[in-house]
Amino acid sequence: MRNFPITRRELLKAGVTSATAMAVPSFAVAQGADPSASSPPVVEKVSLLVNGKAQTLQLDTRTSLLDALREHLHLTGTKKGCDHGQCGACTVIVNGRRINACLTLAVMHEGSRITTIEGLGTPDNLHPLQAAFVKHDGYQCGYCTPGQICSAVAMLEEIKDGVPSHVSSNLTARPQATQDEIRERMSGNICRCGAYSNIVEAITEVAGRVG
Ligand code: FES
Ligand code: FES
Repeated sequence: MRNFPITRRELLKAGVTSATAMAVPSFAVAQGADPSASSPPVVEKVSLLVNGKAQTLQLDTRTSLLDALREHLHLTGTKKGCDHGQCGACTVIVNGRRINACLTLAVMHEGSRITTIEGLGTPDNLHPLQAAFVKHDGYQCGYCTPGQICSAVAMLEEIKDGVPSHVSSNLTARPQATQDEIRERMSGNICRCGAYSNIVEAITEVAGRVG
């Protein structure tokens, strides 16, 4: 015989169910629906000049520049590390400036000049920074290396152009490519293998030649 009309367990279950129902208003359910499930992606044409070659792509407007390079143009030298702008593995040079390709949409770069690691040198004719990385063992697994090298190429141009950094002691004098400057300016490029001292050596050597 049952003394109570409902057990404690049944009461708790009923409470959870009704609380959930009350806590999730109907508009929240509607907001949670995936809008892309019903509407097709917006596709746009984008023209880029990649490593000196004109490229025209039809892209979902949500495509990052990194995915456009890797998945659409098959330039897989540019790496995807974090996909959140935190590691620098995806660094490419756009109109002379280094950027994280994972943090920018391809359609924002209509007509841009883009240089990836594939556009810097070839196995038979390495870019001076590529050669210096090899000479100084500036890598171990090599995953961060394309981003490190693209970043260093643009960074040395910034020094040549007199752009100061956070560690520059004089904001009006042309900065020198000291180890402190190089470390500060390359701080957006993470190396999980910890090859930092060799990377700095490689960049310092090239900076001495171009400086
Ligand atoms: Fe772009 Fe890490 S993959 S910053
Ligand atoms: Fe492995 Fe830099 S060489 S992450």
